[in-house]
Amino acid sequence: MHILVTGGAGFIGSNFIFYLADHHPDWQITCLDKLTYAGNLETLDSVRNKAGFDFVRGDIADRDFVNDLFSQGHFDMVVNFAAESHVDRSIEDPSIFLKTNVLGTQVLMDACRRTGIRRFHQVGTDEVYGDLPLDRPDLFFTETTPLTASSPYSASKASADLLVMAYHRTYGLPVTISRCSNNYGPWQFPEKLIPLMIINALSDKALPVYGTGQNVRDWLYVEDHCKAIDLILTDGQDGEVYNIGGHNEKANLEVVKTILRQLNKSESLITFVGDRKGHDLRYAIDPAKISRELGWLPDTRFEDGIRRTIDWYMENRSWWEHIVSGNYRQYYEKMY
Ligand code: NAD
Ligand code: DAU
Repeated sequence: MHILVTGGAGFIGSNFIFYLADHHPDWQITCLDKLTYAGNLETLDSVRNKAGFDFVRGDIADRDFVNDLFSQGHFDMVVNFAAESHVDRSIEDPSIFLKTNVLGTQVLMDACRRTGIRRFHQVGTDEVYGDLPLDRPDLFFTETTPLTASSPYSASKASADLLVMAYHRTYGLPVTISRCSNNYGPWQFPEKLIPLMIINALSDKALPVYGTGQNVRDWLYVEDHCKAIDLILTDGQDGEVYNIGGHNEKANLEVVKTILRQLNKSESLITFVGDRKGHDLRYAIDPAKISRELGWLPDTRFEDGIRRTIDWYMENRSWWEHIVSGNYRQYYEKMY
């Protein structure tokens, strides 16, 4: 089995590569990553010298480059994690989101069509379903919830999903899509809520909470997401969409207070700042289909996952200190 993992130097992609290396040691893995601000080759240090692992730097939206890569070796499966992933950056400038997330997906699928593939898996997001009201805890996103994206990021991901399904129907490309809720865990770029709050709390800096802090996200430990994708690759049906989530909804303020409590820091660090434009109120995934059809269930309780994540950021300071002292500082100063 030769698998191409795009975006493997980012947060979830790298965790997925580690998962594959543990669970399918006989698979050959090629990681394709552009190494944008969010990609970090250091993250892959533990696998880079392993037999059966290759890293290639390149852009999924560069058709000549991708065609060249596909003509050099045959891939049995492609898992597409590569994306611009941060909602706030998409609000500042949507262009690169359309190029990477939509065009990039098309370029990859065209290469798969040409060479033939056992499976193209698109890593999607629950944000394509828009949001749910805060006062209707009985409502959840299912795979048939209409796509109603709110941000340029989620619109680009929804567009990619539509294109993936169109390639299945029109060209018979064997595809699957997963739509997961918010992930957290090791190696997450510090612009995202949980690592940002851990790092700021560790440095006794203000913790910027958007709006009232009542917006709800449905948190899943990254390894549980990786396990679900692995199951979809092996047992999922072509042309199907699978929602992934662990019924773990929390208001942002609750998450931030949990982090402060675990670190023994004062809640006075919390600072309410202006709200995100178009801020989605609540995400909540119904994972019944993947549980019923593929037997997937999450293994990690939030209390354990957040403790493990906090410990990881405390033990891996050099990884994030490089990031927060580099170009990211300019972004941070502009945002907050
Ligand atoms: P990330 O921003 O941490 O990593 C993205 C990776 O893609 C980086 O390594 C980056 O260098 C690479 N990349 C970006 N543009 C590229 C291009 N044009 N060509 C090749 N590589 C490129 O993102 P993440 O949080 O790991 O998310 C991975 C995927 O999972 C994304 O598709 C995202 O939409 C989806 N997703 C994320 C979450 C979440 O909570 N983080 C939840 C559900 C789905
Ligand atoms: O739901 C899946 C999505 O989760 C993925 O598709 C995205 O790639 C990923 O970035 C994530 O999107 P969110 O916008 O939900 O994640 P983020 O960490 O940016 O924000 C989580 C919540 O915290 C959101 O309600 C905004 C809020 N927030 C975020 C930041 C960065 C704050 O209050 N303060 C902050 O500084």
